[in-house]
Amino acid sequence: MEVITCISEMRQRVDQWRQAGQKIGLVPTMGNLHSGHTKLVDHARQSCDRIVVSIFVNPLQFGANEDYSTYPRTLDADQEKLSSKSVDVIFAPGVKELYPTGIPLSTQISIPTLSNMLCGEKRPGHFEGMLMVVTKLFNIVQPHVATFGKKDYQQLKLVEQLVCDLSLPVTIIAVDTERESDGLARSSRNSYLSESERQRASALANLLDCAASSIIDGGQDYLTALGMLRHHLDLAGFDVDYVSLRKQSDLAEARDGDTHLVLLAAAKLGNARLIDNREIEISQGLRLRR
Ligand code: PAJ
Repeated sequence: MEVITCISEMRQRVDQWRQAGQKIGLVPTMGNLHSGHTKLVDHARQSCDRIVVSIFVNPLQFGANEDYSTYPRTLDADQEKLSSKSVDVIFAPGVKELYPTGIPLSTQISIPTLSNMLCGEKRPGHFEGMLMVVTKLFNIVQPHVATFGKKDYQQLKLVEQLVCDLSLPVTIIAVDTERESDGLARSSRNSYLSESERQRASALANLLDCAASSIIDGGQDYLTALGMLRHHLDLAGFDVDYVSLRKQSDLAEARDGDTHLVLLAAAKLGNARLIDNREIEISQGLRLRR
């Protein structure tokens, strides 16, 4: 496994692979890898001959008061974790390599309909920064396949839209969320939780499960279920950013009759901002009253 920090060297390696007719998979990450990330590698491996994992803490997607400077940077441990995964290259460029003229950039990539809702409303500029780095990584690595986690559901939808709108020649594979044994979605930011917060954090996943079940079985109308979810999160000590039921396809607000839905929540617990979601299928269609 090679570590490449230079764009031109990464391009050379990719050119060699392409000339040999090999299929390339990219797993974009910000490092501090856990089993959620390695699951993305496993999925990419299933259909690709060569795997590139990018590790880059992207300053462009962090707000002024966010955790860019404290985000865990653990390249040695990450290398160790990937060594058993038959990864070909870790692409770990520095900030100057990716943004040689500094930030902000003159070019912007934005999908306003999807970028400004939910997490985007709470984190202005976040998704534009994410879309910029993902586009650059696609241009540099030119992968046939790229894997993204459903844990970051809105991010996944934005990347799918980007690929569609710009006709990018890459197939996006969505991977299910990897969880701790108590249900908490794995995240690099879980390390910001104190011991007692960590014990309480699984309530987010469990309360989402309960709300999803009551929406599916129709025991409660969905607006009541959303209200209860928010109330129980408040009681469990979360500072709730949002709870929302959306259509899977475009994250528009759920309406009566919708069948493929996703329940999304974001909430702060101490210094950690946690997000999670549940996909919900209702074959007979969502009903306000059933
Ligand atoms: P990061 O938070 O490191 O996540 C990298 C990828 O791992 C994303 O696709 C994310 O959805 C996925 N992931 C994280 N936790 C997961 C879990 N518990 N189960 C399954 N997949 C999980 O997301 C980013 O980095 C950045 O925004 C990035 C796309 C790299 C652009 O900078």
